[in-house]
Formats: sequence, C-alpha cells, structure tokens
Amino acid sequence: MSESKPEPKSEPRKLFIKTYGCQMNVYDSERMAEALEGYDQVQTPDEADMILLNTCHIREKAAEKVYSELGRFKGLKADKPDLKIGVAGCVAQAEGEEIMRRQPMVDLVVGPQSYHRLPELEAKARSGEKALDTDMPEEDKFEHLKSRPKAQRGPTAFLTVQEGCDKFCAFCVVPYTRGAEVSRPVDRVLAEARDLVERGVREITLLGQNVNAYHGAGEGGEQSLAQLIWQLDKIDGLERIRFTTSHPNDMSDDLIEAHGTCDKLMPYLHLPVQSGSDRILKRMNRAHTAESYLRLIERIRAARPDILISGDFIVGFPEESDQDHADTLALIEEVNYGQAFSFKYSTRPGTPAAERELVDADVADARLQELQALITRQQRTIQDSMVGRELDVLFEKPGRFEGQMVGKSGYLHAVHVDDCTAKRGEIARVRIVSSGPNSLSGALV
Ligand code: 5AD
Ligand code: SF4
Repeated sequence: MSESKPEPKSEPRKLFIKTYGCQMNVYDSERMAEALEGYDQVQTPDEADMILLNTCHIREKAAEKVYSELGRFKGLKADKPDLKIGVAGCVAQAEGEEIMRRQPMVDLVVGPQSYHRLPELEAKARSGEKALDTDMPEEDKFEHLKSRPKAQRGPTAFLTVQEGCDKFCAFCVVPYTRGAEVSRPVDRVLAEARDLVERGVREITLLGQNVNAYHGAGEGGEQSLAQLIWQLDKIDGLERIRFTTSHPNDMSDDLIEAHGTCDKLMPYLHLPVQSGSDRILKRMNRAHTAESYLRLIERIRAARPDILISGDFIVGFPEESDQDHADTLALIEEVNYGQAFSFKYSTRPGTPAAERELVDADVADARLQELQALITRQQRTIQDSMVGRELDVLFEKPGRFEGQMVGKSGYLHAVHVDDCTAKRGEIARVRIVSSGPNSLSGALV
C-alpha cells in the first residue's frame, strides 16, 4: 500500500454520545457534536475517545441510572486510559460535583446552559484536569456553539427557541435543572431555520420546555410564538412548522388563530393537562382548571376543527382519590386525544410534592392501566378514521421492505407507501388504505 496515510495526530478523535429523554436533549446532542471540532461521531462506546452521556432528570431514579451506566464504562476506561468520560444534561445540572465524587473516572460535567463552553471543558479534560461547569449564564449558548459548514440534513429537524420554565408545577424538576424561562431572539431563530432549509430540511419543530411562552426579542420589541411562526412561514422551502411543548395558560389568541390561518402550521398540538381534577390541578400548582382547559380546546378546535390533540397525564399524584381519577377519565372522554403520554407519579427530590404522602402503588398502577386503555382506544379510533382520506405525507426514509417509503402526515401519523416513487424530503398526496397498530398504509395518488 503506497497511499500516504495522514499523520496519526491529525486523525479525528471519536465521540460517542448517548442521549436520554426529550427532543430538546436530541437537539442539544447534535449541537454538542458540532461544537466538538476534531471529533467524529461513532455509534458504539468501545470505539470512542470521548463518551458523553446527555442525561434526563424527568423520570424516576434518573441519577441512579446514570451512575450505573457510568459503572459500565469502567472496563473501557481501564483498557484505554486516554478515554474521556463526560456527563451533560439535567442530571449533570442537578448533581454537579457529586458526580465526580461518586464516579472519579468522570472527567467532565456540563449543565445544559453551558454547552457553548464545551470545547474549553474538553481541552481541560484532555489535559488531565477535572472540568465542571453547571453555571446558568444569561448568554445564548446556541449562538456560541459553532456550527459545522453545511452538512446535508434529513427532511425534519428540531430547533430550540426557548428553554427553562417559570411555572413550577409541584412535581417537576425542569425549573430547577433548566432554570428560568429564556427565549432566543427572533433573528437567530430565523437564521438557523434558513440554514436548516438550505441543508434539506422541510419540517421544523420548534422546541421549548414551555414553548408557547416564547417572547423573543425582535423588530419592534418582543415577539410571540405566533409572530415567530408567521416569520418562519415566509421561508421558501420550509413546508411544515410544529412546536412543542405548550402550557395551557400560554395558548394566546394569536397562536390559536395561527392554527386556523397558517397553512404551514401542522394540525397537531401537544397540550398537557396532567389531571382532570381541579383539586389535584391546584395541588400541582398548574394554575388552570379542567373547565378552562376544556374551553381552551373548544376554541382551538373552532379555529382548526381537525386538529389532533395530544397530552401528558400523571396518575397517582399525592392525595389523588378515586373521584379525582374519575374526573381525569371524564376529561379524556371529553377531549378525545389523538395521542397521549401518561406516567405514574414519582417523587423528584427538591420539588414541593416530594414532601407529600404517596398513593398506594397498586392503586396507582391500576389507574394508569385504566387511563392508558382509554387513551389507546381514542388514539386508535382517530388513526383508523384516516382510512379512505387523502393526506399529504412528508417522506422521511425507506421502510423495512424493498421499495417502501415511510413518512408522516400532518397529524404526525407514520404512513407507509409501497412501490413509492416519492423521494426522501418530498411531500406527496397519499390515499390511506389501512390502519395498523402503529402506522397507516396508503398509495400515492
Ligand atoms: N412524576 C411523573 N411524571 C412526571 N412528569 C414530570 N414530572 C413528573 C413526575 N415527578 C411528566 C409530566 C410532564 C412530562 C414531560 O413528564 O406529565 O408533562
Ligand atoms: Fe415542568 Fe412543564 Fe410544569 Fe414547567 S410547565 S414546571 S416544564 S411540567
């Protein structure tokens, strides 16, 4: 072999990122991979020179799970002393230095608001020092995260426009791990959206823990999420806009109206209610009632009759009675959800609800099953009702079988098409012919 090999030193190092939790973490992981110049991403930890766990604190015993995951890398680190191990995300924020105390092999700990400092932290870790940053600075971390030049992207992308939350629901860690609510300025969001579209993106999902509280600085002052959406609407080549996750109390009139008038805004809304009992909603510090939520859904449906509503529910919140649970089921019956995520309440240390008495575990399990059965029925009925309709589908990738393509309808249902001539990134009209457990099938019109 006479080919000249590059100097070993200039070969890119290898980065393995494991992402837990929400879409915002997926987005953050992409940005972190771009920020770590000189690294190529790999799919397994054994090849890596650096392992980053991008952690989530929303589920139960999150920190314990991270510690046991880290334990599994011990052997790798013993074989490869140069391997650097980092912890990012909400567990990093919540645990801080404690992580390095409990797992001394961890070289780097970085909280979600400090990702723009990752290159410095990496250099520090490389030099053999421990690198820790869990500050919550007020600068826009994404602005400081350097993007690599123009790599082609898939047809769909997330774009974080807002972070943190000021709502302090009694069960939730987000206000503590992600900090106060902050919106990115309009021009930065638009620049990033244009860049994504140039790189092949057709659908953008705007992300924020409390995305409809968006109030980014723009021309003539602060702009609402609806105003931002109308600006994105003008970008040629961007075909679809979505946003998640919203709080009922921030569903402003202009946003509801946009659902009726903005063609690019997809007919799908994730609007968590958590419970249908006013007593529990109050104890959760949700600052809305079941009735106000139902009236809000009515107004949204008046603007966009076919909109698919999705939600989040917590069952077995402290002090939840059979009657409270029945109230939640009644609310679900009235709303008719196209999709929903439901969780058994579990304690997050440091949150107000953590001090309260738990509902019996078996009772909570039974309630969860009952609630999930109801939602599955609603979900399935709505999905089945798509059969016979013609829907626009954005094709995202080949299916499992030869010639098959998979995409999403505006309602976010997965749609399979056999013998498909539509290409990845194209939107085509599909007649839906059948509905399976998790997806629809159809034929190009
Ligand atoms: N226990 C159970 N579910 C929770 N969620 C948030 N905190 C908790 C908790 N302590 C759920 C809420 C939220 C979703 C992202 O996770 O339903 O909307
Ligand atoms: Fe957590 Fe959402 Fe409540 Fe904010 S609005 S505290 S993110 S559940």
